Amino acid sequence: MRWLVFFIIQCVIILAVLVLVQKHQEHVIVLKQPPTSLAQWYKPQNKRQVWLHTMFKLRREMLAVELYANAIANKIERNGNKNLEKWSAKLVKDYQKIGEMVPEWSNKLNYTAINELQNSVKAKHYQNVTKALRALDETCNSCHADYRAVAATLYRAPDFSGMKLDNSEELTSHMRSMSEQVNKIKIGFVDGRNEDALASLLGLQQGMHQLGDTCVKCHAENTKNYPNEAMKQMASTLKQSLEAGTLTEQGSALGTLAVAACADCHATHRLAFDAKQLLGEKKSWLELLRHGF
Ligand code: HEC
Ligand code: HEC
Ligand code: HEC
Repeated sequence: MRWLVFFIIQCVIILAVLVLVQKHQEHVIVLKQPPTSLAQWYKPQNKRQVWLHTMFKLRREMLAVELYANAIANKIERNGNKNLEKWSAKLVKDYQKIGEMVPEWSNKLNYTAINELQNSVKAKHYQNVTKALRALDETCNSCHADYRAVAATLYRAPDFSGMKLDNSEELTSHMRSMSEQVNKIKIGFVDGRNEDALASLLGLQQGMHQLGDTCVKCHAENTKNYPNEAMKQMASTLKQSLEAGTLTEQGSALGTLAVAACADCHATHRLAFDAKQLLGEKKSWLELLRHGF
């Protein structure tokens, strides 16, 4: 009897866990987190983007080995095995570096394929070289599918957190006030209060100049002038239409300015920064369970 009670309690617990997981499955996006030891191969912990450059080298080395193996097999390579040996040695070294740089990822590497590559190059079995390359390529792809986008977002998306303008206003609050001005322009002209719309446009132009001073924190001066000449022209077109244009002209002038002055940068910076923040957030299980989906 006691065993039966015990068994039923077990079943109830397992069922409860299954229901809980099932209920959350549709609402939660699960991504794999790269090991934190990866961070040391990125700025600012490192002076150079070492990880990314190792990856670019690997891609070049894979291509070179393939090209030379085919060229030799087709008897169109004049230097014999020399170039193939050179590039495959580099490939082996850099591939092994993955596991040295991030030891947690050693188990994702195919050391058998690496040995086979080395042996086949030595033995001049070019078909086996290509076979080993394919096996290696599978490990490239499977790690990329799991981690590439997350790692790039976490470690390479420009960071705007805690950023302030020169007048020490928080970036977020500056964004909100610029957005208010854009909307006040619209509310002003659709309601025939063009003086108010013009005043808000002036405020927006000042706000844009203030924001522009922050770009040089990362972009060298002159490479990202904000507002640039085209944006200034769009603002002056909007001003003219607010003074003497039709509703359609005003709407189109405001839209053009907002796309160039706000949406373009958001497509690059806000999108990436939002993703970086989302991925960097630590969520406890308790928080996930307490959610209000
Ligand atoms: C154990 C994980 C792992 C393995 C194995 C791996 N990579 Fe990567 N690779 C990454 C990560 C993480 C990134 C993202 C880096 C970034 O964008 O900052 C990346 C990015 C890249 C990039 C740059 C992004 C792009 O697609 O333009 C190239 C090129 C690349 N890897 C080539 C290779 C090649 C070739 C191999 C196999 C020989 C390989 N990688 C194996 C983790 C791995
Ligand atoms: C926290 C650093 C940082 C700040 C601040 C910053 N950027 Fe960037 N931005 C970058 C990086 C890094 C890239 C990608 C590589 C590159 O183009 O230099 C980039 C790329 C861009 C791009 C897309 C690529 C291109 O060249 O067209 C635009 C547009 C852009 N930034 C606009 C701006 C504007 C406008 C400002 C100021 C309002 C600004 N950024 C402020 C770091 C920053
Ligand atoms: C650097 C390029 C850049 C430009 C140019 C830019 N933004 Fe932003 N914006 C961002 C980033 C990054 C965030 C997210 C940062 C944050 O919320 O602190 C953001 C966030 C916002 C937000 C959300 C703020 C909140 O409440 O969280 C609003 C609204 C906004 N921007 C409006 C605008 C408007 C309107 C313009 C054009 C007049 C504009 N932005 C131009 C980069 C830019």
